[in-house]
Amino acid sequence: MKKLNLLGFFLLGCFMVNAQDSTIKSSVRNVETKVDSVLALMTLEEKVGQLVQYNGSWDLTGPASEMNNKQKEDNLKAGKVGAMLNVLSVEATREAQKLVMENSRLKIPLMFGYDVIHGYTTIFPVPLAETASWDLEAMEKTAQIAALESAANGVNWTFSPMIDVSRDARWGRIMEGSGEDPYLTSKVAVAKVKGYQSDDLSNPKSIAASAKHFAGYGFGEAGRDYNTVHIGENELHNTILPPFEAAAEAGVATFMNAFNDLDGIPATGHKTLQRDILKRDWDWNGFVVSDWGSIPEMIAHGVAKDKKEAAKIALNAGSDMDMEGGAYESSLVGLVKEGEVSEDYINDAVKRVLRVKFKLGLFDDPYLYSNAELLEEISFEEHKNVARDVAKKSIVLLKNEKDLLPIKESAQKIAVIGPLADDKDTPIGNWRAQGEANSAVSLLEGLQNNISENVEISYAKGADLGVGERSFLMPLEINETDKSGFEEAINTASEADLVIMALGEDAFQTGEGRSQVNIGLAGVQQELLEEIYKVNQNIVLVLINGRPLEITWASENIPAIVEAWQLGSESGNAIADVLVGDYNPSGKLPVSFPRAVGQEPLYYNQKSTGRPSNPIHVTYSGYTDEKKDALYPFGFGLSYTDFEYEGLQLSSEEMDTDGSIQASITLKNTGDVEGKEIVQLYLRDLVASTTRAVKELKGFETVSLAPGESKTVTFEIDEKMLQFYSANRKWESEEGEFEVLIGGNSRDLQKATFSLKK
Ligand code: BGC
Repeated sequence: MKKLNLLGFFLLGCFMVNAQDSTIKSSVRNVETKVDSVLALMTLEEKVGQLVQYNGSWDLTGPASEMNNKQKEDNLKAGKVGAMLNVLSVEATREAQKLVMENSRLKIPLMFGYDVIHGYTTIFPVPLAETASWDLEAMEKTAQIAALESAANGVNWTFSPMIDVSRDARWGRIMEGSGEDPYLTSKVAVAKVKGYQSDDLSNPKSIAASAKHFAGYGFGEAGRDYNTVHIGENELHNTILPPFEAAAEAGVATFMNAFNDLDGIPATGHKTLQRDILKRDWDWNGFVVSDWGSIPEMIAHGVAKDKKEAAKIALNAGSDMDMEGGAYESSLVGLVKEGEVSEDYINDAVKRVLRVKFKLGLFDDPYLYSNAELLEEISFEEHKNVARDVAKKSIVLLKNEKDLLPIKESAQKIAVIGPLADDKDTPIGNWRAQGEANSAVSLLEGLQNNISENVEISYAKGADLGVGERSFLMPLEINETDKSGFEEAINTASEADLVIMALGEDAFQTGEGRSQVNIGLAGVQQELLEEIYKVNQNIVLVLINGRPLEITWASENIPAIVEAWQLGSESGNAIADVLVGDYNPSGKLPVSFPRAVGQEPLYYNQKSTGRPSNPIHVTYSGYTDEKKDALYPFGFGLSYTDFEYEGLQLSSEEMDTDGSIQASITLKNTGDVEGKEIVQLYLRDLVASTTRAVKELKGFETVSLAPGESKTVTFEIDEKMLQFYSANRKWESEEGEFEVLIGGNSRDLQKATFSLKK
């Protein structure tokens, strides 16, 4: 019989226990006992190994690429690596796992991470778009599918959800989050964690999630990626941290820290954030992975003189695992021996990593996620249906005049125009995992698939959006000059009853490192739009984009505007569902659309200031050359029917700290078709120990109504909803008056007041 090593004996014990009583597997006490037993067997070198993550995009069976892969392979065999990223496929993960399982002393299995941000093979809307559905069940479902497709390809850990509240449309990564509001982002965070992880992490169809980027990454100065963040304690606690706390409470397995510094301290080396708030105050027991290389990047930040010092700062601050930074592997053992890092901290970090591995079921079966049969079980057709469903729910109708939408029978000749009209790649978006290039249903295809055969569809691209090669790595060069396709587009448009124009952003204009100072219709698109408008004003503008755009001219001139984002694999079919009226649009913006880029960062939940703008002083806290409010505010979105809000009522005008009150409003469908409305509840604390936002989202409910039907919607408001991070530096409510604001977007709201008595 092959000789079993120490851990082998130990694990044999685990198998026996599990066989007798499967429920023990998930019991917390049992996991802790196992973790402690494994830790007790480990040398310091092996412990540090668990805190090291390697990028694995090299051919494991072949020669080394540009880096020292032979060394990496040797380290895997020696048990000096805890996790890898970018190792994809059942075969590749099995190969890598085998290096560890067949060679290392303790055979502690690896985790395999990957950026599965909006789907693995089946691509769903980019996160900002999907949030516009406000459909938490749908968002949980898409995470569940992404987890299944990942697990079937050997990946057991996603670096998602990104729950950085972000309010600056210049920042390219705004597409990757849930927008400007902490409450909505928190709800999405929980739905995503549940979807990826299910109730039981050891379920081979679910994977570990990672709440990122902890913290403040969405607030980079001037919208520049990786940039310095200047926010105070009040903003940190009231705006940035709530989604992370919600994810921690929902049991997210890991956190990822961030590239930025926060008030002078890099997030990766931020002890208050990681050790005090996350691990102590929130009592969270998963592990924190650094962002890619963010530990050695503290050298460039100027807070560490070398990798060794960076490793010391990061570990002491509570960063548990070093993603491809090479700092922990080169320095931690020495730092412990020199007394610069305590072994207790190392033990704590290792236990956190082991805990997640046990919960994932990897100690029971290191190849649990390298199972080729799972892929066979997947119905990609079914996943496509889900992708279409969530994509149509994510579309936001911004404007609909001249009764252009849904497309009428009188529109017998439709011209489809624009650089994105037949683009099968841009809807896949950035952060596309294994979504195949050019695999989306384009808008043109969607219309051809879904519109009556009697309608004549003609197509002209008009212009290219980008020039040359498009890639994840390089910024896109925009076509600023070539208008050779204009003439054909103008002729096509002039003969049509209706023009559908698809304009916006290329997939690689948003995403990491894709900040822009201009957020209008890039290149020659604006000119193309204006030229077409001269010959035919019956235009439906379909926007395909990852960030809020500056579309002021279009909003003043174009009769119908549909925000269709980058909607993923089924994009064109979903847009067609809305345009032809098979689906009545119900999406609402999760982020404000500005009138001008100079308004950024722009968000509805601003502070009042001491000089709020008013009818006499319109420029107070605003601008002299532009209005200060949004062109399309947070929460905004139209329907093919009309909704009327009537009679906001409170059950009482006073509330006790242990009581609650109900706020009710009647919603009526006053139009001709059935429709869905997302009713939104906002609160305002009128006088408090710190300044407070002029309104904050605190609840929402989706209501479907037939024409003429009405329904009373009731929200329960309790003391917890009135709490905030106060001048006492803790979460509490304060007595006094509050406004209740309810309506269909953050601007058009009915108001009532009540007071909290303590
Ligand atoms: C990004 C992370 C991502 C990591 C791994 C970093 O550049 O900031 O969000 O998870 O790379 O790909």
